[in-house]
Amino acid sequence: MSDKRSLRQKYAQILKGETHCDDPRQHNHGDEPICNQSNNPDFASILGSRLQRRQVLKGSLALAVTSMFAGPAINTLRTRPAAASSTLLGFKAVPVGELDTVIVPEGYTASPLVSFGEPITGSYPAYSLDNTGTDQAMQMGSHHDGMHFFPIEGESPYEGSSDDGLLVVNHEYVEPRYMHTAAIGMALDSDGVPMMGEMRDADQVLKELNGHGVSVVRVRKQANGTWAMEQDDRNRRITGLTPMEISGPVRGSDLVKTRYSPDGTRTRGTLNNCAHGVTPWNTYLASEENWAGYFRNGDVVTGSNQGEVEPNLPREHARYGVATGVSRYGWELASTGADDYIRFDASTKAASPIQDYRNEPNTFGWFVEIDPFDPTSTPQKRTALGRFAHEGVVFQPAVEGEPVVCYSGDDARFEYVYKYVSAQPYFSATAGGYLLDNGTLYVARFNEDGSGEWIALVFGQHGLTPENGFNSQADVLVNTRTAADFVGATKMDRPEWGAVDPSTKQVYFTLTNNSRRTDDEVDAPNPRAANEWGHIIRWSESNNDPTSRTFQWDLFVLAGPEDDSTTLNGQALNEDSKFCCPDGLWFDASSRLWIQTDISESVMNTGNFVQFGNNQMLAADPVTGEIRRFLTGPIGQEITGVVTTPDQRTMFINVQHPGATVTADEFAAGNLKSRWPDQSTSMYPRSSTVVITKDDGGMIGT
Ligand code: FEO
Ligand code: CA
Ligand code: CA
Ligand code: CA
Repeated sequence: MSDKRSLRQKYAQILKGETHCDDPRQHNHGDEPICNQSNNPDFASILGSRLQRRQVLKGSLALAVTSMFAGPAINTLRTRPAAASSTLLGFKAVPVGELDTVIVPEGYTASPLVSFGEPITGSYPAYSLDNTGTDQAMQMGSHHDGMHFFPIEGESPYEGSSDDGLLVVNHEYVEPRYMHTAAIGMALDSDGVPMMGEMRDADQVLKELNGHGVSVVRVRKQANGTWAMEQDDRNRRITGLTPMEISGPVRGSDLVKTRYSPDGTRTRGTLNNCAHGVTPWNTYLASEENWAGYFRNGDVVTGSNQGEVEPNLPREHARYGVATGVSRYGWELASTGADDYIRFDASTKAASPIQDYRNEPNTFGWFVEIDPFDPTSTPQKRTALGRFAHEGVVFQPAVEGEPVVCYSGDDARFEYVYKYVSAQPYFSATAGGYLLDNGTLYVARFNEDGSGEWIALVFGQHGLTPENGFNSQADVLVNTRTAADFVGATKMDRPEWGAVDPSTKQVYFTLTNNSRRTDDEVDAPNPRAANEWGHIIRWSESNNDPTSRTFQWDLFVLAGPEDDSTTLNGQALNEDSKFCCPDGLWFDASSRLWIQTDISESVMNTGNFVQFGNNQMLAADPVTGEIRRFLTGPIGQEITGVVTTPDQRTMFINVQHPGATVTADEFAAGNLKSRWPDQSTSMYPRSSTVVITKDDGGMIGT
């Protein structure tokens, strides 16, 4: 009883929704606000003095691993001796890059394919800075992120044509200064928004909403060997306005009833689609990552502190960082006051939730399933997979007759890693989205001895009960973070992409950085305080069974400079391999691990980060631990999104936010550091998909 009481005291604040994130407007430049203010145990409190941080940082990864892991479980994952040079990595490393271009190894060619604003559907309006909001709904969105190449046959996500397919691309966010003629000459940084007095121009708002979402575009290898976008009836824009269904346990819940959907079954749009997922049944999952800051909730209460007025947000807003002032883009201030826009103000405005938009933010934070081969299909928000800042989702290879298993990270400081296991088995003949509507969501606890546990987030289990403030499975899912706090999940250093090694089923996740972790908060899976450089963790499910409740983990690499990094073979990163802030992660069919970096634009090419140059992509051998730099990108961008055609002879990557490091004053003066990819003084920098081929026609990376 006393344990229970202390737990309840510990979480009382969270359960009442009294915690608030950092103001999202003060964490700009793509950084995530800290929302986890739970007292959830991290390993510091468990380890005490047993963890010698200096040993972790100064010694090899092997030393770090062996000093922290006492049990035998880690033996199978322990660092291997240095091996002969990898046979997977057949290219010559490129140096760290500082130029406004994409650099690939000798013998490779990189070419932009589809950039922001290119016409892809409808009446195919040509790109121009003065395109309207309506035009934008027929053009490629902005800030390309996760993507997949679906071979044109439409039968398998990984088999079929290597010359012709549907490219499906997430558009994470927009930079208004590069979208509107009205912004010319204004002092706007990458987060800047042109205001019209206290309002926003409604067509600008429409254009920004339509710059978000997902693009489906047919791409085909041409007779001369280059790739081009082609017009096709399946080309499609899904935007921040596209009608969507809410499916799974949250469908119809009181928590998602709005004026738009009084029965809680529908919502409009998907936002901040970062990484993605590909289902075994050939559909696409767009994730909703930093959606919370797109909303504001101005509800207040008179507090106990001398009658001062305080924000009064429900936990399903507060725990995720819904703004209390103006939202990220101020869409709720659109001059027309149309319903599509005022919904971004989630303040209580009417007598009943079905008369206002207090629940609108609860219809975001999910995975959205899209069938790219059916342009009339309605996207489905799959709520059984939980609600958080979804980076992306990665599936274990489907096995006939076995459940579907996938993993997802919650990218914010001190948030968690999750796994979903379908209730029903997979059969290729009948598989479909229903497998994502009924299953168990688990959250990870990484133990200090290299073992780990998956804790089910199921109503009625592990204290997720009415007496502890959880009233249904829908309530648990809408408040996934709070439920994970409650069951004692491990707070991680910003989980970004995951990847599954097709040869071993081992799961890898990038932990991009966490400048806020203190010495007292260091633990075995997050072994560095003020973690500037990030690391990559990996695990094997017990008995190599993806549905297992336990796993064994180790660290694949501590990223960073030559004097503060460790690879699997116990050596430091070097001139050919040093990187930091790993984000994108993907295994190709040969088990080559591709690592993409996202040094925040607020620090890129400054101070300690100068040595890493522009953001880059590397390839790694998961067996030898060898890492080699394959590509560097233009100025101000991050490299994100990677996939090859089934024959592995064409690779697609995305360059997101070139020119983001241009300051407000530089923008006002028209002094742009990047003009990529057009390299014309009359063109702004634009996010773009890049095609990479090997000049001898070989497989990428060999
Ligand atoms: Fe959108 Fe966590 O990167
Ligand atoms: Ca980013
Ligand atoms: Ca990312
Ligand atoms: Ca990132």
